[in-house]
Amino acid sequence: MKVLVSDSISPKGVEILKKAGLQVDVKTGLKPEELKAIIGEYDALIIRSATKVTAEIIEAADKLKVIGRAGTGVDNVDKVAATKKGIVVMNTPGGNTITTAEHAIAMLFALARRIPQAVASTKAGKWEKKKFMGVELYNKTLGIIGLGRIGSEVAKRMQCMGMNVLAFDPFLSDERAEELGIKKVDLDSLLAESDFITVHTPLTPETKYLINKDTIAKMKDGVYIINCARGGIVNEKDLYEAIKSGKVAGAALDVFEKEPPEEGYPLIADERVICTPHLGASTLEAQENVAVAIAEQIIDYLINGTIRNA
Ligand code: NAD
Ligand code: MLT
Repeated sequence: MKVLVSDSISPKGVEILKKAGLQVDVKTGLKPEELKAIIGEYDALIIRSATKVTAEIIEAADKLKVIGRAGTGVDNVDKVAATKKGIVVMNTPGGNTITTAEHAIAMLFALARRIPQAVASTKAGKWEKKKFMGVELYNKTLGIIGLGRIGSEVAKRMQCMGMNVLAFDPFLSDERAEELGIKKVDLDSLLAESDFITVHTPLTPETKYLINKDTIAKMKDGVYIINCARGGIVNEKDLYEAIKSGKVAGAALDVFEKEPPEEGYPLIADERVICTPHLGASTLEAQENVAVAIAEQIIDYLINGTIRNA
């Protein structure tokens, strides 16, 4: 059976697939029409975030039995089209949780102390002590939207830093909130009370543009926003307007509505915005975890007919 790996994954995953007797082709950076032309040969497809598995690709996938995401979000797969065709979509949700939580926290600190801007200035030979006055996180309120795997890890760590953590998550039980020692609130209270807001939900029809001009209007003046979850949860046009007006003091973005964004994208160019190129899950440890997990899951499914998500 043949497996196509169309986004880069740790070589450990490829090794495991080959050892199990599967034929593996690693072909990254394919254009949609190139993927469409070859997908018919494959029994399994392994992706990360770059490959968009649209209905058109699925239509051409005559032998495909399984699509495996070496990572968490499966918003780049047309799951309805896949299901209609009997193709299983699986992910590896646990493998990059800690890494992504650590990235969101790194962005939170960097945002509060304007570290990327100060590094660039110091490297340019300047000594701008006054310009880079920051804010303390201690005793500030962190609002977490989406208290799942990643949100919970962010919460635990930021409580240790002395932040007051609030969470909004319609699926969060009172018991879980209590276990984590977190105040569960409704969205409007979170928006009104938080100094920093970080989103950790999947991108769904309900979370699309959850942060928009209306929700931003309900936030404190001078709020900071962090998105290390998915582009499209934050309406970038509205965020940019709110940053320009001073309502939002700064934003840290790892993910964008269009990846990569256009060159010279004004939101990225703004000096109150810090950003990374979708690096949330990019550590050696997380990439090995997700590659090994997806390889084992694909083998289980193709060879033993067992379905599991690590
Ligand atoms: P998870 O499923 O464990 O947690 C998501 C949480 O969001 C759940 O608790 C769910 O109840 C909550 N939620 C769903 N809809 C909501 C809504 N409308 N309002 C508020 N909360 C809502 O997922 P996770 O492992 O924590 O990952 C979260 C997301 O982070 C993923 O879906 C993925 O898109 C993203 N992610 C990004 C990177 C990156 O590289 N930047 C890496 C890993 C994951
Ligand atoms: C994920 O959903 O796991 C992330 O987007 C990580 C990635 O694949 O880069």
